[in-house]
Amino acid sequence: MDEDLLMLPGPTNVPDEIRLEEAKKMINHRGELFHNLYKEVQNGLKYLFQTDNPVYILTSSGTGAVECAASNLVKKNDKIVVPVNGEFGIRLADIFEVYGAKVIRIPFEWGEGVDPAIVKETLERNPDTVMLAFVYNETSTGVRNNAKALAEICKKLGVLVLCDAISNLGGDELYADKWGLDIVVSGSQKCIACPPGLAFITLNEKAWRKVEDSKPHINYYWNLEKMKKFHEKNETPFTPAVSLFFALNKALKIIEKEGIEKRVLRHKVCSKALREGAVSIGFKLYPRKEEYASYTVNAFNLPSNVTDSDVKKFLLEKYGIAISGGIGPTKGQIIRIGTIGDINQKQVEKTLTGLEDCLITKGLNVKRNTAVEAASKVFKENKY
Ligand SMILES: Cc1ncc(COP(=O)(O)O)c(C=O)c1O
Repeated sequence: MDEDLLMLPGPTNVPDEIRLEEAKKMINHRGELFHNLYKEVQNGLKYLFQTDNPVYILTSSGTGAVECAASNLVKKNDKIVVPVNGEFGIRLADIFEVYGAKVIRIPFEWGEGVDPAIVKETLERNPDTVMLAFVYNETSTGVRNNAKALAEICKKLGVLVLCDAISNLGGDELYADKWGLDIVVSGSQKCIACPPGLAFITLNEKAWRKVEDSKPHINYYWNLEKMKKFHEKNETPFTPAVSLFFALNKALKIIEKEGIEKRVLRHKVCSKALREGAVSIGFKLYPRKEEYASYTVNAFNLPSNVTDSDVKKFLLEKYGIAISGGIGPTKGQIIRIGTIGDINQKQVEKTLTGLEDCLITKGLNVKRNTAVEAASKVFKENKY
């Protein structure tokens, strides 16, 4: 059966009006048409990141932006603290190590949130730390870390802070300038509702000073100073993914039209409705506490006698819905369902109907419509 509805932690459904932009006639990436496109995209990205600083656009998936940050900001033996409460925290730490940093990993249990007090304590015990790098929305566990609190701690202690907002920028609160996030990275294929293939990095003056201080950089393609030079001309140093720029421009216009606060609320309500619905029929929320459940990636333990493959296969074959399983230590133990980008009530309810049908087919004692009713209540009480 076709994948009619992607309820994945990414990539996500791309509305036709965004998708079709990619079919536009090619243009010269050094010409006036591209310069105008670049300027429009910059305005949209600045709004999305809530920053006055440029947002550099990379031809890569999100990991490319993390690697770009590491290759420009790290000097050998720089001490970098990384709280780890899931697979993407591990990756963040690994990438900084590849570039020569001495990484201090603060381990948290999977399903737990990063405790800002423990991060503060660690930074105070390591006054030579140059940067805290953290994952805002831990996609592997569905846990939303407290980005604002972590940024505040770093500001007070004079430590640079990098935020990986790959799986929630555009569907969750993020105020790069107001919160004092020195470096933010993200990607096109999640809450922006764009196809995969673009990544973003923005950095403020404080971070730029560190880039200067970290010369010579071990990079060529990911060199931020080159990007900055070409940005002044509304260009990228190397051939950009022009068709994706067209799609991105449209996606950003849609975000501006909806308004970021409203968009965040839509994600928040859809994820809450999905959680309430799933829990009402016997799935168990994987994050230990509801208060740090993600707005965009919803992770659940399964009812007994049902496997992740059963649920994934059933949803795909009978409903055309694609969902994910666990990764790393949670492989085979959980399912993960995205409420990302173009998400709405109909999609949430269709997914819950599928989950419920799966359990009933497996012989579990679940009353039809329980999940959708629980979700509808959330939608009724929380308008967006
Ligand atoms: C929080 C987070 N960081 C990093 C990545 C890696 O991004 P990509 O697969 O786009 O390279 C992901 C992907 O899901 C993610 O969710």
